[in-house]
Amino acid sequence: MRAFIGIGLPPECRKAIAEAVSPLLAKRPPVSWTPERNLHITLKFLGEIDSGRVGEIVTLLGGTGECVSPFEFTVGEAGGFPTLRAPRVLWIGIREPLELVGKLQENMENVLSGAGFPREERPFHPHITVGRVRDRVHPGWGEEYAKELSGIKLSVVGVKSFQLYESRLAPGGAVYHVLGDVPLLRRPANTEREESMK
Ligand code: 2AM
Repeated sequence: MRAFIGIGLPPECRKAIAEAVSPLLAKRPPVSWTPERNLHITLKFLGEIDSGRVGEIVTLLGGTGECVSPFEFTVGEAGGFPTLRAPRVLWIGIREPLELVGKLQENMENVLSGAGFPREERPFHPHITVGRVRDRVHPGWGEEYAKELSGIKLSVVGVKSFQLYESRLAPGGAVYHVLGDVPLLRRPANTEREESMK
């Protein structure tokens, strides 16, 4: 099965992103938009895995979840990979003051590489993929996209767990299925301090 590890987004967050994108659909740019139900933050793409390894992977991930406390983020700037001027991937970034997503991803790479999953060589930029450009878009279109998304109104999003997903490729867009939900268990620093003061 094809699998990846990611942070699923709450429905109101997915809805706000889909609504921010909708004015762009009218001009029918050559973009495959991520279906609202699939909007997520990828932590690691595993590719094809043996379904017999799901339990082992979820256990390994449990260890990484224990080292990171629940956190909150807000959506940030919109951008494009490799550049907004000639984008292939359209994304929206996230802002979280303690950079725990990066720590989580780093722990995960360390643990999973020990279990034989190749490390991601590219630097990690946590993002929500909003669309993939199928063909060339006209000059300046990427900036239009970023401008449209800059108006997004979204409250703070709390993250208490992350997920191992199966991704089944289907004509109407991939269908994700949660194989395991991994809680973030480390207590926030202030709670630890409060505990030690008792
Ligand atoms: P991205 O959209 O955040 O870049 C599930 O398929 C997710 O895994 C995708 O949303 C994508 O993350 C990532 N992904 C898919 N194919 C990939 C590949 N070949 N290499 C790395 N990441 C991939």
